[in-house]
Amino acid sequence: CPTLAGCGELVWVGEPATFRKADTIAGKYGVWMRDPEPIAPYTHDSTWRIDTVGSDIRHVFEYDDLDQFMKGYPSKVYVLPASIESTGALMYRGALYFQKRRSRTLLKYDVKTETISAQKDLPHAGFQGQFPYSWGGYTDIDLAVDERGLWVTYSTNKARGAIVISKLNPETLEVEQTWETKIRKQSVANSFMICGTLYTVNSYVSQNAAINYAYNTTSSSGKPVNIAFENRYKYNSMIDYNPAEKKLFAWDNFNMVMYDVKLAKINRNENL
Ligand SMILES: *[C@@H]1O[C@H](CO)[C@@H](O)[C@H](O)[C@H]1NC(C)=O
Repeated sequence: CPTLAGCGELVWVGEPATFRKADTIAGKYGVWMRDPEPIAPYTHDSTWRIDTVGSDIRHVFEYDDLDQFMKGYPSKVYVLPASIESTGALMYRGALYFQKRRSRTLLKYDVKTETISAQKDLPHAGFQGQFPYSWGGYTDIDLAVDERGLWVTYSTNKARGAIVISKLNPETLEVEQTWETKIRKQSVANSFMICGTLYTVNSYVSQNAAINYAYNTTSSSGKPVNIAFENRYKYNSMIDYNPAEKKLFAWDNFNMVMYDVKLAKINRNENL
């Protein structure tokens, strides 16, 4: 699998670079992203934005490239057939994956045909404020994509609030495998996956925050880590890794920012 090239352990995160500031209250928090494996007519430059303040979030803005994104000129606005909950959505292989409002239902929305192409309940997942990240905002279910594919982080009653990670089949949204970590979901501000490892961030308000925990799904083991992470605008509501660009995308208090990362190379001959 060529996308595993350059995989490694996260060792450093750069300063945030700001690309856009939302100009209405609806943009205090949100999601912005690029598809790491776009399908024509979309490209690696296609940029997507969803403002997620409000109770009926359905508008998805598409921009041809970063320049149009920064200028605020969308090429198209999609209206979803169901409203989105929170900031866990992402774009992957030409589809928007998101949690349907007030449910544990995951939806796959094919942007080209503008139709829902898969729908599945995430078994036992808490939702609507049962197991959110520390900033709240109904962030119970958070999708992630990395070099290995599609993931979702959440919690269940059985896990008593600890972060549960499941690998999802991107076609059917079925759970392929599940891991239970020992870190409480409500004790961390956010999380993201890189090369099959989950990383958590300890604060969404502190400018001098840290990535404080790493859970490796290959070895099924977690450990504390300490990697500096800056919340420049002191209200970080979304953090996602893009495996094609090897960057973190985040939405910090109206501001859409990006961080460089450094991964320590893992031996290429290793049996991944
Ligand atoms: C995860 O664990 C596997 C198996 O022990 C190891 O080969 C790999 O390097 C680890 N990855 C990271 C990012 O620590």
